Amino acid sequence: MEIYNKGLSFERPPLTFQADKWEELANARLSSEAKGYVYGSAGTRETTDKNRAAFKKWSIVPRRLVKTDDFPDLTTEVLGEKLQFPIAMAPVGVLKIFNPDGEIAATRAAAKEAVPYIFSSAAASTIEDVAKANGQDGQRWYQLYWPSREYDDITISLLNRAKKAGYTMLFVTLDTYILGWRPSDMDNGYNPFMRSDRIGVESGLTDPVFRKQFKERHGVEVEEKMDKAAPEWMRTIFPGMSKGWEDVKFLQKHWDGPIVLKGIQTVADAKKAVEVGVQGIVVSNHGGRQQDGGNSSLGMLPHIKDAVGDKLSIFFDSGVRSGADIAKAMALGADCVLIGRPYVYGLALGGEQGVAHVLKSLVGELELTLHLSGIPSVSKKDLNRSVLVREDD
Ligand code: FNR
Repeated sequence: MEIYNKGLSFERPPLTFQADKWEELANARLSSEAKGYVYGSAGTRETTDKNRAAFKKWSIVPRRLVKTDDFPDLTTEVLGEKLQFPIAMAPVGVLKIFNPDGEIAATRAAAKEAVPYIFSSAAASTIEDVAKANGQDGQRWYQLYWPSREYDDITISLLNRAKKAGYTMLFVTLDTYILGWRPSDMDNGYNPFMRSDRIGVESGLTDPVFRKQFKERHGVEVEEKMDKAAPEWMRTIFPGMSKGWEDVKFLQKHWDGPIVLKGIQTVADAKKAVEVGVQGIVVSNHGGRQQDGGNSSLGMLPHIKDAVGDKLSIFFDSGVRSGADIAKAMALGADCVLIGRPYVYGLALGGEQGVAHVLKSLVGELELTLHLSGIPSVSKKDLNRSVLVREDD
């Protein structure tokens, strides 16, 4: 309500409250390379478009005369952590291509707005610098692009550094062992991981184990052979081949805390996740950036919830653009919803303040949407499939 009331005051917001304008405004401002990277998707954008279309198939049906003494309770608990709001910032790499302060600005905004920040393995800043900017009170989780098993030493180094820097959950992205077929990047001849300013590889090239191994291989420091170091790091985190379910054991051995597998899209894989004993999954198709001709992420959510919802925590992303979208994803089974592109657009448009505005705006709209629908909290007893109707039924 505070956000809403402020929005109706004479104070000008740092950027618009019209969530459907953020993408358009950011795209108008960004270079064609940066725009191509964030907006660009796999192939013909079919998966990305389906992600959005799926939200429109569901409607929130409002109840009347639900007597309330307070505004809806947005607090929740996921994998032992209390969250003020049921959202977190999705891991997004190379944020410095959208704003020179990149991850530092984004993680500061996260801490300020009490939203957990998921650090991307492909960040343009180091694990430690982002932790410092996120601060003592910030909630931060670590996302791993999992190097191939021949580089287990590097994986262990990354996990240890993350743990030491206060990242409490491990998100392992399973859908990106190689980057997707992204025509916009290919047309621009653009690969953010190969930029000479190290933006796309900074967090990797500063890893002490990678540096040591590089020196053993080439006899020089990373800085002296950047033409080799950047592609070698890229091949380390995007090795081309995926691992098998049996390899998850290795991560469980080296990470003391909850493990969440990101990129799950089928009931079969959700059941596998339960079988191998991880604590959570992210139902996600990477915003349609990896595989085209795919299903919508939201479409799979209720099936996955029905199959494994009581056995692990379910995070969700891909296509979330508004507070109402967050409510729908939660009603269909998500315990926590990850915000991806919208905060990147906020970063491009207004740096730290822009990210904070996007987060505030989404939370504010979620609160009012629930309030006006007679839904008193985000707990599953209140926010579940009974509040939705399918428009095509
Ligand atoms: C991503 N995403 C991503 N995911 C991940 O696990 N590690 C990463 O480094 C990145 N990097 C990244 C960069 C950019 C520019 C985007 C837009 C996305 C995927 C992200 O975590 C999330 O799954 C999607 O953003 C969700 O889709 P929407 O809602 O943004 O369309």
